[in-house]
Amino acid sequence: MEESIYGLKRTHMCNDLRLADVGKTVTVMGWVHKRRDLGGVIFVDLRDRSGILQVVFHSDKDENVFKKAETLRSEYVIAVVGEVVKRDEETINPKIDTGEIEVTAKELRILSRSETPPINIEENLEVNELLRLKYRYLDLRRPDMQRNLMLRHKVAKIARDYFDSKGFIEIETPMLTKSTPEGARDYLVPSRVHPGKFYALPQSPQLFKQLLMVSGFDRYFQIVKCFRDEDLRADRQPEFTQIDLEMSFVDVNDVIEVNEGFVKKAFKDALGIEFTEPFPRMPYQEAMDRFGTDKPDLRFGLELVNISDIVKNSGFKVFSDAVKNGGSVRIINAKGCGEKFSRREIDSLVEFAKTHKAKGMAWIVVEENELKSAITKFLTEEEIKAILERAKAEPGDLICFVADKDEIVYNALGQLRLELARRLNLIDNDVFKFVWITEFPLLEYDEEEKRWVAKHHPFTSPMDEDIQYLDTEPSRVRAKAYDLVLNGVELGGGSIRIHRQDLQTKMFNLLGFTQEEAWERFGFLLEAFKYGVPPHGGLAFGFDRLIMLMARRSSIRDVIAFPKIQNASCPLTNAPSEVEQKQLRELHIRCTNV
Ligand code: AMO
Ligand code: AMP
Repeated sequence: MEESIYGLKRTHMCNDLRLADVGKTVTVMGWVHKRRDLGGVIFVDLRDRSGILQVVFHSDKDENVFKKAETLRSEYVIAVVGEVVKRDEETINPKIDTGEIEVTAKELRILSRSETPPINIEENLEVNELLRLKYRYLDLRRPDMQRNLMLRHKVAKIARDYFDSKGFIEIETPMLTKSTPEGARDYLVPSRVHPGKFYALPQSPQLFKQLLMVSGFDRYFQIVKCFRDEDLRADRQPEFTQIDLEMSFVDVNDVIEVNEGFVKKAFKDALGIEFTEPFPRMPYQEAMDRFGTDKPDLRFGLELVNISDIVKNSGFKVFSDAVKNGGSVRIINAKGCGEKFSRREIDSLVEFAKTHKAKGMAWIVVEENELKSAITKFLTEEEIKAILERAKAEPGDLICFVADKDEIVYNALGQLRLELARRLNLIDNDVFKFVWITEFPLLEYDEEEKRWVAKHHPFTSPMDEDIQYLDTEPSRVRAKAYDLVLNGVELGGGSIRIHRQDLQTKMFNLLGFTQEEAWERFGFLLEAFKYGVPPHGGLAFGFDRLIMLMARRSSIRDVIAFPKIQNASCPLTNAPSEVEQKQLRELHIRCTNV
């Protein structure tokens, strides 16, 4: 029989008790983490959110209590009244905070029983994730998962306090809205009242926060859910949370400074990690040239090196043609890997590069007196000498080459760089390397649609000095856009917005929208912009990603209470699910697959 809590009041959380409490009579409640039966004595590790406390039952004290303790199983919920006693020197457990004391039970109530749980409630246990998510409420009992969610709470509170102290006001924006142009697919919600019409769940509050600037709120922020129907990855969920903000009368530096201040405060107050130096800033092009990506992991070297000028007239057509066709040839000097890697390992690197769309990956192993390579025979001595010099090659090195269009070279070598770092164990999980990436291109050419598209979104302002190229050389125009990157993860991004009507019209023209199409999609914003707009800009952090990195996890699923799996479903609730015909009829919807 389960018992009631009647007449009992919890006096302490498990982890509250210390040596100073010895002699006190306390009432604690929680889950049976473990039970050890040593004949006349039963030890129970009692667990609650705060931690673990050892409770002891002696057969020679109260027989009824002891008998009841014999029936305890893992995950039973119990209440214990008992006395805090000091443990003998040899039984002290340094692994838990309460390890110097234990509670001798005088009264035990079994508040709830548990079947054998389908997953073990243990720290950092390797369990099949599907099972973890099906029984998420049990998975969330694990101390590490509890810590993650408590960290999340703490950082949310730091964010609210920090942005409040800087004059930001938290304002909610609608969840049922019109599609916002962040570039992913929308989640749509059918309207019952307006047959055939749909709301979109917001991909971000972008347009609303700009409207709030038009309203004169000056500084807005919000911790807000966003929805994007895109392919999921370890750092992507269909619904995720942003710390979103917007500021009036500012330029790039103002936005960067206030946000850098927040991140530093979060790390200091939540983790005790202090960053005294300003975060480095790197223009987009430099990031691409050195790391092959706009989200470089700066915890290790292995930088890319451009050798296009050396091989542009080479007899080796793979190289010279790539340069002639407007692409490039770049290398990574994998220091020491010529010595370290077997031929098979090098071949697997070639395969790796190919899975990232490279047509091949030529290589040279540098030895004391010779070079091992399939391509040196196609190159002249001068070319080889110049390449080795540029690569700062030494005996033992492995030089990896990719030749192609820039886009492919950057991607393949950028990925190869990460793969090499993993294989060489160069990534230190206790190091946090921030970098602001700035001066993004304003536009990208979409080969499929044969038109320019906004790299960030259509309201991002070009850099003043590049406005002159908008008509003649759009590819050359850089944007007042910035991303904050931490350890190779894009933590957040934003931009200064266009607040001038002439510039916005020009931008829409460039993106191939007619005036009508622009008004159809963003009319309410353009209308608002007729009535006095402050220059403004902002940024949004991926809150889940921030917590993931602070908690030193590799998936945002570990810092979200109830996340979705790869195929965007929820193993706990089985969402998405079919609905009743009646509901569909009301919504004027017929499913063609049933
Ligand atoms: P952006 O689209 O770059 O900018 O999003 C901001 C940040 O949100 C995080 N993020 C995600 N996190 C988890 N799952 C996802 N599917 C996901 N998509 C994005 C990233 C990203 O840096 N309105 C603009 C911001 C602005 O211009 O002010 C915006 O949404 O960490
Ligand atoms: P092939 O002449 O195609 O046999 O290629 C000769 C060498 O060049 C092989 O080691 C290939 O892996 C390599 N290779 C082929 N295409 C490329 C490329 N686009 N970039 C770098 N190396 C390549």
